[in-house]
Amino acid sequence: MQKPAPSDFPVHELIRERWSPRAFADKPVTKEVLRSIFEAARWAPSSSNEQPWAYLVAVKDDKDGFAKMLSVLVEFNAAWAKSAPVLAIAVAHLVFAKNNAPNRNAQYDTGAATALLSVEATAHGLAVHQMAGFDPEKARQVFGIPAGWDAMAALAIGYPGDPNSLPQPLKDRELSPRTRKPIAEFVMAGQWGHTAPFATK
Ligand SMILES: Cc1cc2nc3c(=O)[nH]c(=O)nc-3n(C[C@H](O)[C@H](O)[C@H](O)COP(=O)(O)O)c2cc1C
Repeated sequence: MQKPAPSDFPVHELIRERWSPRAFADKPVTKEVLRSIFEAARWAPSSSNEQPWAYLVAVKDDKDGFAKMLSVLVEFNAAWAKSAPVLAIAVAHLVFAKNNAPNRNAQYDTGAATALLSVEATAHGLAVHQMAGFDPEKARQVFGIPAGWDAMAALAIGYPGDPNSLPQPLKDRELSPRTRKPIAEFVMAGQWGHTAPFATK
């Protein structure tokens, strides 16, 4: 299934086609494709080129790793994410490696890396569904995430599947229209709250 963004203005096909399904096809992701999507994360920009991100990844064949991933998700997410062939957690290094000083852009940069990963995934026909609904402290314990690193988001990665495989409430959400604020609401100029002139239709 595809769910292209009904954008107000033209955007690149990869942006239009990226979305966050909860139904996944029973189809594995090859290691070549996995390499490409994490390579895309690698080439994200970051403050001081610190590259303050790391990803814990489990493919379904890795039964122990996959079970560990599912164990840190909240129940709501685990219920649908278990059908994805790959689960991951994005982790941010909150301090600079060179001097342990706080890196206030670490989360921002990790999000940027995951955004690029998601776009690369879209180019391969994959979808990435990010999740805040997981227990970061449990993830720290289960995976041995060191101090100074924080788990930011869990990721379900796979090929979009049949919405009919979902229970009714999730199926309804899967099929519901995609919505966004208009750019006039968040693109400002001159003064906070003043819409940039180009941003109105
Ligand atoms: C950081 C982050 C956390 C999210 N957490 C969850 C989550 O816990 N469970 C869930 O079902 N969706 C989650 N989502 C998915 C969003 O609901 C989804 O991205 C949003 O509704 C926009 O839909 P789209 O990605 O299809 O455009 C999360 C997305 C992001 C980026």
